[in-house]
Amino acid sequence: KKLIKKEFNETDKLIKNQISSDVNRIPKLSKHIIDLGGKRLRPMLTISCAKMLKIRNKNHIKLAAAVELLHTATLLHDDVVDESFYRRGEKTSHTIWDNKSSILVGDFLLGKAFQLMVETNSIECLNILSKAAAIIAEGEVLQLVEANNINIKETNYIKIIESKTAALFSSACEVGGIVSGANKSQKKKLYNFGKNLGTAFQLKDDALDYEGSSGKMGKNSGDDFYDGKVTLPVILAMRSADKKEKDFWKKTFNKKIRNKSDLRIAKKIIKDKDTINQTLKLADKYAEKAKQIMKNFESNPIRNALIDLVDFSLIRNH
Ligand code: IPE
Ligand code: IPE
Ligand code: MG
Ligand code: MG
Repeated sequence: KKLIKKEFNETDKLIKNQISSDVNRIPKLSKHIIDLGGKRLRPMLTISCAKMLKIRNKNHIKLAAAVELLHTATLLHDDVVDESFYRRGEKTSHTIWDNKSSILVGDFLLGKAFQLMVETNSIECLNILSKAAAIIAEGEVLQLVEANNINIKETNYIKIIESKTAALFSSACEVGGIVSGANKSQKKKLYNFGKNLGTAFQLKDDALDYEGSSGKMGKNSGDDFYDGKVTLPVILAMRSADKKEKDFWKKTFNKKIRNKSDLRIAKKIIKDKDTINQTLKLADKYAEKAKQIMKNFESNPIRNALIDLVDFSLIRNH
């Protein structure tokens, strides 16, 4: 992180420049979510991947800002879709303003993200990131279709997290490489590094939803459960469930509303079956793969920082 401090600050400034508008609600609402920070992982990836190769101009800053704006837009939309009340330790935008404002400001930020991409004159980057935007939406819709389906296939679950989360990680890495003149094989490696990291990241996120504390996470734990999202801790618990447990999962996920006591029972089963650890083990596998891919690049401080970032993604508690 220290290695890219200058670029990081430039990116943040550029992001903040993008949210101005005569329509007051746009900068107000955008500022709310953007000033709360967030880990800024994705722009970090873009900057680092660009810097690991050879930076040629300022395009990596523009792309890093575009990637974070795209991420911010998906968060605004996601919190409406998930009916989440907390994000980054604060009330979500749609609870302060309303759903309509959050969706529309999300669209505004999405537009701004694409403008920045166009400014780089790289059709290749525009291609990658516009595809990612579509894939993210696709993942979110697939998740919607699979909601409350206690018999969801693990492959479909993986497809959902690869789409909604890993697609942006892989693109963030790849476009960073592209503006630094990466060759075909380097591009592929950066893409696969991001994809494996992103998948590990979401697996960790899904584990945290059952064991993390809301305070530390800055978002409510149990959200996935209340929302009817059948994530890996539940999929694995279902796999080895006896008749009584199967009935519990079926009955509970078919209910319109799940309450605290449902969550308590779910957590107890999950604990007994140790499926959080199994989920984290799978996350580890993806993380290990990401690190192996990164080790194909020549050793230098930035490369090593990228490898450390994989570890950070899995030890985080927010
Ligand atoms: C949240 O992403 C959405 C997921 C993919 C889980 P982050 O955990 O990177 O969110 P911020 O940007 O740090 O708040
Ligand atoms: C986040 O998914 C993915 C996108 C924003 C596209 P989640 O809904 O699982 O993430 P959190 O838990 O709200 O951050
Ligand atoms: Mg959500
Ligand atoms: Mg969601």
